[in-house]
Amino acid sequence: SISELNTMQGFCAVASDSDCSSSFTKILIKGGTVVNAHHKEVADVYIEDGIIVSVRPNIKVGDEVKIVDATGKYVMPGGIDPHTHLEMEFMGTVMIDDFFTGQAAALAGGTTMHIDFIIPVNGSLSAGFDSYIKKAKNAVMDYGFHMAITKWDEEVAKDMELMVKENGINSFKFFMAYKGALMVNDELLMQGLVKCKSLGALAMVHAENGDAIAEGQKRMIDLGITGPEGHSLSRPPVLEGEATARAIRLASFVNTPLYVVHVMSIDAMEEIAVARKAGQRVIGEPVVSGLVLDESWLWDPDFTTAAKYVMSPPIRKAEHGKALQAALTTGTLQLVGTDHCAWNSTQKALGIDDFRKIPNGVNGIEERMHLVWDTMVESGKISVTDYVRITSTECARIFNIYPRKGAILEGSDADIIILNPNATFKITAASHHSRSDTNVFEGMTGKGKVEVTISGGRVVWENNKLNIMPGSGRYIRMPPYGYLFDGIDKADAAYLASLHAPVHRTKAAA
Ligand code: URP
Ligand code: ZN
Ligand code: ZN
Ligand code: ZN
Repeated sequence: SISELNTMQGFCAVASDSDCSSSFTKILIKGGTVVNAHHKEVADVYIEDGIIVSVRPNIKVGDEVKIVDATGKYVMPGGIDPHTHLEMEFMGTVMIDDFFTGQAAALAGGTTMHIDFIIPVNGSLSAGFDSYIKKAKNAVMDYGFHMAITKWDEEVAKDMELMVKENGINSFKFFMAYKGALMVNDELLMQGLVKCKSLGALAMVHAENGDAIAEGQKRMIDLGITGPEGHSLSRPPVLEGEATARAIRLASFVNTPLYVVHVMSIDAMEEIAVARKAGQRVIGEPVVSGLVLDESWLWDPDFTTAAKYVMSPPIRKAEHGKALQAALTTGTLQLVGTDHCAWNSTQKALGIDDFRKIPNGVNGIEERMHLVWDTMVESGKISVTDYVRITSTECARIFNIYPRKGAILEGSDADIIILNPNATFKITAASHHSRSDTNVFEGMTGKGKVEVTISGGRVVWENNKLNIMPGSGRYIRMPPYGYLFDGIDKADAAYLASLHAPVHRTKAAA
């Protein structure tokens, strides 16, 4: 019921289409600067039944249309977060945000779609898929899925095909870390890369050397370092650089595109830069925590404070975040995610005596759009059009759902934000919409505020209030063979042709 859903602050959750402003099926956004990844212009945007019908100056409409004034503000595609973990079971506990609270947080922060990672159930992809479809039944915004591959056998290989051909999944994540849990070895990674290529699915890697981390953790425990700082010390940037380089080289050997998730260090970023310079199709995704935070928090004397910054790969020294920002500016890295994986402080306390038991992960789904705006646009590092590209459009292109998503064009889904560049935002756990009792960005303020979010043609965030409808979010199927696969077959054909060049051998003299 409405009252049950109203338990969180700022909510007007409606059970039907009949109350709140969410009932408007026709909306005119007037007088704003409409921004796409390639172009911006002052124009009106007219929306009907969840779809953008028209984008041009001075659109005239009748009385039945809700008018939203955007004069002096930016009208942009809603954010697409390529990397989240809602209701994930991990390290012996379940992540605190489900699809309802996590997506509520997203919408309040200007993100209108996310792609979550299905974790297989006992290695079964089909069981994992079914379980996540259930988890998402109260979705309030659109979502897609990547799928993790955690073991290898004939059934997994068959299921990958099923996921791509029947279930709308076009990307698979391989964890090169989390030894004894999610980690895969090189043999499995190789088989996975080959299978991904054969399906036109994008291979994604969590690039850290899990075997070396196990050794690094033992080293810290032997030294008596059991606090959260041990997390950082046990898995330094060199281990992220090594795994990134290995994954890139294996993807090159297979000739298939690669997507490196949560790039946290200069070491990993530079491996991506070198590969891209050589013409390899490698995508690098930094996350907002890695861009704006630094590792000093992990040395905080208060365990609860320090533990909330534990994620993998670790948040690094400030110079890494600065370099990742620069890499976004120049295009070495292409889009920003969050790796939203929020825990309560009671859950983080599972590792009070041993950093290895602190559930890994930080929040970000609500904060990404604001922090990227302030850090990258307000600071003068990138243009407003590039902001749209790295927060929305590039994700839609990579995962093959552009221009339905990631654009304000006729026929696109009406997932839109209005950002006021002169208003300010402030981040606190007391006011955020995640269920977590902490926030790694606590107290941060900045310029640029998402004042309105429109999701599926409904105004879901306005005047600092959510109007959301459980079950209104849709599963977005993502077809294989996105643009990263264009021409791969030609390069393969050229390689095969080169193998048939004549070889003239003479018998060795007896
Ligand atoms: O610490 C993290 N990143 N937790 C989420 C799982 C993952 O590796 O993405
Ligand atoms: Zn245009
Ligand atoms: Zn990961
Ligand atoms: Zn993740």
